[in-house]
Amino acid sequence: MLASPAMPSDTSDRYAVAREALSRIPHGVAIIGAADGAERSCATGTAMYVSFVPPMVAIAEHPGSRTCKLIQRSGAFSVSFLHASQQDVAERAGRSAEGLDKFTALKIKPLEAPGGAGGAPGVEGSIAVLWCRVHETRETGDHLLFTGEVVAHLVDPAKVDALLRYRRRYAHIGHVTSEEAPEGYPT
Ligand SMILES: Cc1cc2nc3c(=O)[nH]c(=O)nc-3n(C[C@H](O)[C@H](O)[C@H](O)COP(=O)(O)O)c2cc1C
Repeated sequence: MLASPAMPSDTSDRYAVAREALSRIPHGVAIIGAADGAERSCATGTAMYVSFVPPMVAIAEHPGSRTCKLIQRSGAFSVSFLHASQQDVAERAGRSAEGLDKFTALKIKPLEAPGGAGGAPGVEGSIAVLWCRVHETRETGDHLLFTGEVVAHLVDPAKVDALLRYRRRYAHIGHVTSEEAPEGYPT
């Protein structure tokens, strides 16, 4: 049964609603990558699609993060959806790192962007990598919302077990409950 709507139990805690309610939105775990010349960073994050034609996704980045600043400077980002075996990558990328290159500092193997897709590295071994050019940037509360057009992508068809984030925990996908839809909605 749904609990009745309530104010967060501790109103002095500014993240209480995020912890109690937003954490109930299940997400695939993504690594957001960005670069400006030799400076490269990445951050654990989430993404959703917002257009099929042209293909576009949205991400929300905290303006204090290095990845966010590199996206603003370069106008490009990558989104790598992690496989269940890559939880350690999510844990490492979720912290900031010293030095110019977070990929090297945290031993996260980069996947170079194809020519013309901008310099943002993806993450080797992911289920799928989307290379995006920023379409629009908008302030949303304490984050910046970037929409990006997918200008290149790579999918590993052999990898289907996505790493998920739900209830402030990492999780694995369960079992499928239908056949693949042969037509209709594209995703
Ligand atoms: C599961 C998970 C999801 C996250 N999602 C986001 C997100 O959507 N946006 C964001 O700005 N930070 C998110 N973070 C936090 C960043 O990954 C974290 O602040 C990171 O240290 C930023 O690194 P940077 O400063 O090198 O860019 C998330 C962290 C975790 C563990």
